[in-house]
Amino acid sequence: MIDAISFSGGTFRYLDQRFLPLKEIHVETRDYQEAIEAIKTLAVRGAPLIGASAGYTVVLGINAYQGDKAGFPAYFSNLCAEVNASRPTAVNLFFATRKMQAVYDANYEADSLETLIGKMTAEAHKIYNDEVENCDRIARHGVELIKQDLAEVLKTRKLNVLTHCNTGTLACCGIGTALGVIRLAYQEGLIERVITSESRPLLQGLRLTAWELEHDGIPFASISDSSSAILMQRGMIDFAVTGADRITANGDTANKIGTYAHAISARYHGIPFYIAAPVSTIDITMSEGSQIPIEERNADELRQIFGNQVATPTTPVVNFAFDVTPGTLIRGIITEKEAVTGNYNEGLERVVNG
Ligand code: MRU
Repeated sequence: MIDAISFSGGTFRYLDQRFLPLKEIHVETRDYQEAIEAIKTLAVRGAPLIGASAGYTVVLGINAYQGDKAGFPAYFSNLCAEVNASRPTAVNLFFATRKMQAVYDANYEADSLETLIGKMTAEAHKIYNDEVENCDRIARHGVELIKQDLAEVLKTRKLNVLTHCNTGTLACCGIGTALGVIRLAYQEGLIERVITSESRPLLQGLRLTAWELEHDGIPFASISDSSSAILMQRGMIDFAVTGADRITANGDTANKIGTYAHAISARYHGIPFYIAAPVSTIDITMSEGSQIPIEERNADELRQIFGNQVATPTTPVVNFAFDVTPGTLIRGIITEKEAVTGNYNEGLERVVNG
């Protein structure tokens, strides 16, 4: 099993995903600012993994606290604000710091600092473990929906599936969200081949998803992001499934830049397009996708390819890291509680509050 992150003995350990698949470098740190840097630089990335890493980052921060109990509230509040400022789009990050805050709120008055820190460490482990379990449930619900929607095709042959970015163990702790669905579908004999789009500019699809699929021996082919339409036109893709960084009440879904274009192509070609994500990725405080903050990253991510200059340093660049796919283009949002189809306002409210 790929060990994307772990935490023990006060040390946060992560696989630095910037060097994959060519080098497997595990980094250990006890410094919360280094952990924040790992989130910012995408050394650890993917919405559920960002959430779990944020929980552990808060634990690193509180372990470093040297003052007395009276000074702790201000320190803790600044710490959470620093963690929250690391990346704006994946709501799992804020979900995790809110969970840590809830443990603090419930126990600060009664507990010693040592006991409180113990409870917060347990909460961070729970965030991680819950995401592992969520992946298994998402996979089960996803496979059921796909069997139902693609029953006619499955009578005659296996399916070809498109996915984008990386939604596997590297992004989620467990077997993955979209990639978890694909893994289980493959185990059940439903999948012929996975098509993984490269996910410019940081190549999470080409580098990371391909690496995970190769690891598992699942047949796949990588494509450039702009190739999905021709593959759909030629009947080389039967359905698409991706993850999400934030899903609003109406089903609008922020995910890695390029997802929206795949979804438009899928609709044009009559191909079902699914989102697979844990409930921690749903943000029903936002009614629609235009409210989601979209991360804009450094221009050099485009002007350079992994350190090699490919455009002049002065080339003006727009580098949105995410886009928003309207819920109307999404056939189903597969969560650990159920696969929501139809009216997202009702269904997503049910899975969040039910
Ligand atoms: O910028 P990244 O690599 O963190 O973006 C990741 C994605 O967009 C994933 O598709 C998303 O977080 C879902 S992970 C299950």
